[in-house]
Amino acid sequence: MSSQNNKSLTTIASLNKLKSESKKFTCLTAYESTMASVISDAGIDVILVGDSLGMVVQGHDSTLPVTMDQLIYHLECVVKGNKSSHIMADMPFMSYSTDDLGFENATKLMQSGAHSIKIEGGEWICKMANTLAERGIPVCAHIGLTPQAINRIGGYFVQGRDTDKHDLMIAEAKALESAGAAMLLLECVPDALAESITSQLNIPVIGIGAGAKTDGQIMVVHDLLGISCLEKPPKFVKDFMSEAGSIKEAIQLYDISVKSGIFPAEEHTFF
Ligand code: KIV
Repeated sequence: MSSQNNKSLTTIASLNKLKSESKKFTCLTAYESTMASVISDAGIDVILVGDSLGMVVQGHDSTLPVTMDQLIYHLECVVKGNKSSHIMADMPFMSYSTDDLGFENATKLMQSGAHSIKIEGGEWICKMANTLAERGIPVCAHIGLTPQAINRIGGYFVQGRDTDKHDLMIAEAKALESAGAAMLLLECVPDALAESITSQLNIPVIGIGAGAKTDGQIMVVHDLLGISCLEKPPKFVKDFMSEAGSIKEAIQLYDISVKSGIFPAEEHTFF
């Protein structure tokens, strides 16, 4: 497949630079080569090979059934199509339940072509973020609504609205940065809390359902294309395909909308 953009590879350093210049960046999920190629050509900075593949590709009702082997298979497909995007790979449910297991599985993802890995959790993943960072593996720590813990949380709710949770999330974000996390991802968090965390951290903060103030935005590509697997897509989802003539145009529209500050709008934001 021929490359249509001459961008150099997006790295942790280039994402840090964007943050320091107060410029927004974009992230999208992908699970296979052709879509990864279109996404990368459209100028999306980060591709996440997310465990959301359990829901949007495999048809499960949660991300829990996704295995390491399946994640690696999809990661290898994405790597083949990618041109210049930074590829982040999700660590599936229980693939980092102990330090040794986490180290072994993160290594497998990096050796399969990931540029960074993402793990869900708060304070308890600090040690792993530190171990991996010290060994050269950039870690994105995912806090707020963490879908792998859906059975404990009890549903897909906004996180951090009460004072205790609000303060805990700020403390966790700071602890993860101190531990060596290279990025933070906030899912389903009120706008003001996401803004506060983003301004207090030096590392890039990515949001989904976390308002417009985070450094980067992420969406599941199926949601962006209006083919969400959910009967009623969450409030933070926008169907960009309804305003575009092709999949590539829809992805470019998302990219421009985030980078110009049009998306997410108030109607996509939790307060
Ligand atoms: O797996 C995934 O797609 C994710 C995003 C929703 C952030 O974790």
